Amino acid sequence: MLLALFFCLDMATLKLPGLIDPHTHLRDPGATHKEDWHSGTCAALAGGFTMVMAMPNTNPPITDAITLVATQRAAAERAVCDYGIHLGAGTDNVAAAAELGPQVTGLKMYLDQTFGPLRLDDLGPLMAHMGQFPKETPILCHAEGRTVAAAIFAAHLFDRPVHICHVSRKDEIELIRAAKDKGINVTCEVTPHHLFLTLDDCAHIGAGKCEVRPMIATRADVDALRANLDIVDWFATDHAPHTLMEKESALPPPGYPGLETALALYLELAHEGLLSLDDLIKKCCDNPCRDLKLPAQENTWIEVDVDAEWVAHGAHMRTRAKWTPFEGRTMRGKVTRVVLRGETVFENDRVLAKPGSGRNVRPATLQTGSDDIVRQLGADKQIRRPI
Ligand code: DOR
Ligand code: ZN
Ligand code: ZN
Repeated sequence: MLLALFFCLDMATLKLPGLIDPHTHLRDPGATHKEDWHSGTCAALAGGFTMVMAMPNTNPPITDAITLVATQRAAAERAVCDYGIHLGAGTDNVAAAAELGPQVTGLKMYLDQTFGPLRLDDLGPLMAHMGQFPKETPILCHAEGRTVAAAIFAAHLFDRPVHICHVSRKDEIELIRAAKDKGINVTCEVTPHHLFLTLDDCAHIGAGKCEVRPMIATRADVDALRANLDIVDWFATDHAPHTLMEKESALPPPGYPGLETALALYLELAHEGLLSLDDLIKKCCDNPCRDLKLPAQENTWIEVDVDAEWVAHGAHMRTRAKWTPFEGRTMRGKVTRVVLRGETVFENDRVLAKPGSGRNVRPATLQTGSDDIVRQLGADKQIRRPI
């Protein structure tokens, strides 16, 4: 079925646009033993992603000009695919966030507990950000259960778009469908793990490794996500690398690496007849581009051997996490080549791009390379070193 639908180079090779992952955690600066801009973007290319959007729950979190410049610099030195950076919404950065809006791809608001210090518990800052952050740039919410309703309602009052990250429950997807039916400006994403794993899988994944936020859910929740794929705007990996040692510790941090397993799982949905390849391209490319106003990547494509079978082994992956919740699963569909802006950047299982060749899709007005501007900001003294 797949072959009939898109560009077919030969019987088994599909040519697809470069995939976009709008929700990636790269840990740089602050926790580069888990991932940095180089290891994470190498994992992205291997997985068929030519653009990733980095989340702000780094250490320190990306919430102001200084931390944004530090992240822009780290990315400019190390990224091998194109990228955007999402800013974090804090209790005391409402004005600063609004001012930095044009330099970032979104404002991330954490309305429930997850990894890192960014969490908005009070209604005041939530409403202030909703009211002041530029409407052209979306507000992306980590919201679960009731906070999904709160985020949608608050955004609607200000007549601004809002995006709900990693929807995982039946109630949530049905609420979003109802809001969309009323014409409310809300978009949403789902992750491969919430589409493929249930709580029953924790027995073989292991309790610590299984921790993720939102937690994987029940068969009924997975079935509801699958039944409502038509209103899911984006697929997003929520690639959230932590080391095996951390995941097997007494206090395991939540999160799964996902960049290198996502495409095969998206293709599995197509093989199952749940979506067409056209839908897959919409959710992995067209819709994130539309909602985040991303530039087109000229001369950029990936080649995928759709019949190639391989077994997922974290130890063989490029992510520094070196594990996967899909360990041992037979995957179908392998990226054989990635061409980014005319250059072959991944082929024969090797990343060919040089660190720093990736481009920021929101070219910084605070020039990342400019010591002058950093000095003007006082950032040369204040950039906190990774801990
Ligand atoms: O499981 C998660 N891990 N969920 C999140 O929202 C954050 C992420 C992380 O950064 O590790
Ligand atoms: Zn989240
Ligand atoms: Zn996340």
